[in-house]
Amino acid sequence: MSGFPGAHEGRVAVVTGGARGLGRAFAERLARDGARVVVADLEPAAETVAAIVGGGGEAIAEACDVRSEEGVEGLRRATEERFGRCDILVNNAGIVRNVPWSELDLEGWRETLAVNLDGMFLTCKAFTPAMTAAGFGRVVNISSDTFGLLTPGFVHYIASKGGVIGLTRGLATDLGETGTTVNCVLPGLTKTAHLEAALGGELFERMAQMQAIKRPGLASDLEGTVSFLAGEDAGWITGQSLVVDGGWLRH
Ligand SMILES: NC(=O)c1ccc[n+]([C@@H]2O[C@H](COP(=O)([O-])OP(=O)(O)OC[C@H]3O[C@@H](n4cnc5c(N)ncnc54)[C@H](O)[C@@H]3O)[C@@H](O)[C@H]2O)c1
Repeated sequence: MSGFPGAHEGRVAVVTGGARGLGRAFAERLARDGARVVVADLEPAAETVAAIVGGGGEAIAEACDVRSEEGVEGLRRATEERFGRCDILVNNAGIVRNVPWSELDLEGWRETLAVNLDGMFLTCKAFTPAMTAAGFGRVVNISSDTFGLLTPGFVHYIASKGGVIGLTRGLATDLGETGTTVNCVLPGLTKTAHLEAALGGELFERMAQMQAIKRPGLASDLEGTVSFLAGEDAGWITGQSLVVDGGWLRH
């Protein structure tokens, strides 16, 4: 798979939710493009780290619950102890649950918001001060094209992913003069092992018929966008929301 070889040479990236799925693909891609990577997850991330190290890259796994201020502070400390700093923050950790509005309670609402939005607030709070002090930083937040498609049963998820767009725009504005950019990516339905096991392969084929490009999306369709937004070349792009979904959402 081609990439931007050397694009992130000397840079340090933190990828949340990097133990599997899209986060794992983002972590491996940033490593292939030259970054040293901290793979942060609630779950053990040894497989991602082994894949990176096996490919000649450098990475560590760090157990972290992005909902916890203390946990995120521990992630920042571990990153700085091992690699000195964080230049690239990919806020990917997220949960998705299909719950019809009639069954959605405050607990379910808060659970989703806590991971998908509070977690991002906490990591941005922890990592951006050193980025702005250094004069370079890249924050890439993962939203979802569900924000534009408005699929039933996802009020809490759609609200959280809309919040990600708002956080991106607001933070990009506040950090505009600092050399740190903040952007977000809105993936379409993308085949990951976990999601395929949960939804079944047939659904991906059916949903793909709604897209301009009528094949299911793969993590490899997204990782280049994340790597690009994390690089030097994207330095004049900030506050943006980029839909990467095979042309389902056309607006
Ligand atoms: N796969 C898709 O079709 C799709 C589409 C649009 C958006 N997204 C978004 O992309 C991101 C990744 O999705 P995925 O399909 O790879 O999901 P996934 O469930 O396979 O992976 C999510 C990862 O986040 C971790 N995580 C969950 N809660 C956490 C917490 N509190 N602290 C730290 N880590 C935590 C999980 O352990 C897991 O490793 C999510 O934000 C999701 O909303 C996915």
